[in-house]
Amino acid sequence: MQHPFTSPAELKQRLGGVSYLADDPLAMATFLALGLGRPLLLEGANGAGKTEIAKALAALLGRDLIRLQCYEGIDTSQALYDWHYGRQLLAVRGSDEREAAEVFTREYLLSRPLLQALEAGDRAVLLIDELDRADDEFEAFLLELLSDFAVTIPEIGRVAAPAPPLVVLTSNRTRDLHSALRRRCLYHWVVHPDAEREFQILRVRAPHVPEELARQVAAAVQRIRGLGLGNPPGVGESIDWAGALHLVGIATLSPEVAGATLSALVKDIDDQQLVAERIDDVVPSTP
Ligand SMILES: Nc1ncnc2c1ncn2[C@@H]1O[C@H](COP(=O)(O)OP(=O)(O)OP(=O)(O)O)[C@@H](O)[C@H]1O
Ligand SMILES: [Mg+2]
Repeated sequence: MQHPFTSPAELKQRLGGVSYLADDPLAMATFLALGLGRPLLLEGANGAGKTEIAKALAALLGRDLIRLQCYEGIDTSQALYDWHYGRQLLAVRGSDEREAAEVFTREYLLSRPLLQALEAGDRAVLLIDELDRADDEFEAFLLELLSDFAVTIPEIGRVAAPAPPLVVLTSNRTRDLHSALRRRCLYHWVVHPDAEREFQILRVRAPHVPEELARQVAAAVQRIRGLGLGNPPGVGESIDWAGALHLVGIATLSPEVAGATLSALVKDIDDQQLVAERIDDVVPSTP
C-alpha cells in the first residue's frame, strides 16, 4: 500500500485534525498497518477508543467506513452476501425453467459488509467490530478472507479486492481470538488516555466545557479508574460527565456535585457506591 504519511508523528498529528488524539504507540501501530497493508487488531479496555480510530482513519483518508458489527451466531449470509429472494421470486414467476436459473447472478446478490469492502478495495476502511462476540467458525472464515482478500461465490465466481482495504478489527476479549488470526494482523492494546491526553480529548470533543472544568474532570476520571471498578469509565463517559457538569451550571468540580452527577460517568451500582465512598479522595474539595 502506498503510504500516505511520512512518519507516525505525522499520522498522529493528522488524526488530531479529525478529532482523534492517539498516543505514540497507537500512532506507530496504525502507521505500520497502513504501510505494510496488514489488518490492525485492537484489544483493550471498554471505551478506550478502539472503534473510534477506524472512523477517524476513514475520515482522514477520505474513505468509506464499512462496519461489520459481530454478534453471536453471525454467519456469511449476514456478513458476506445473501440473495435477494424477493426479487428472485418475482423474476422466476412466469418464466420457464431455463430462465429461472438466471436469478443467481450479480444482479440478485445482496452485498453485506465484507463483500462491500472487497469490492471497494482501498477506497474503504473495513471495521470488524467486537470480533470476540462471533464464534470460532466465523473467525476461521474471516482468517481466510483476510489472507486472500478474495472469496469465491459458487454461482458467480471469485471476487477479489482490487487492492486490500484497510482493516481494523476490535475485540473486548470476552473470549480469546486464535493465534492464526492474530498472526495475520498487527496487534495493539489500546489503553485509556492519561490525564493530559484526556484533557485534550475533552477540549476537542466537548469544546463548550470550560477549560478548567475539563482539566478537573480529566484528573478525577484518572483517579476513579484507579479505584479498581468492575467497569471503569471510558473516554465517552468522561465526555458525557464533563457535558453533564456543564449542563447543570458547574464551573468547579467538588465532591458534592461529582457524587450527584455520577449517573453520567459510572454505569454500575456497585461501582457507583464504591466511587461515592471514595469521593473525597478522587475529587479534592476546593479551598
Ligand atoms: N483517542 C481519542 N480521541 C478522541 N476521542 C476519543 C478517543 N478515544 C475515545 N474517544 C471518544 O470516546 C468514545 C468511545 O470510544 P470508542 O467507542 O472508540 O471506544 P471502544 O474502545 O470501541 O469501546 P467499546 O469497547 O465499549 O466498544 C468515542 O466515541 C470518542 O468520542
Ligand atoms: Mg467499540
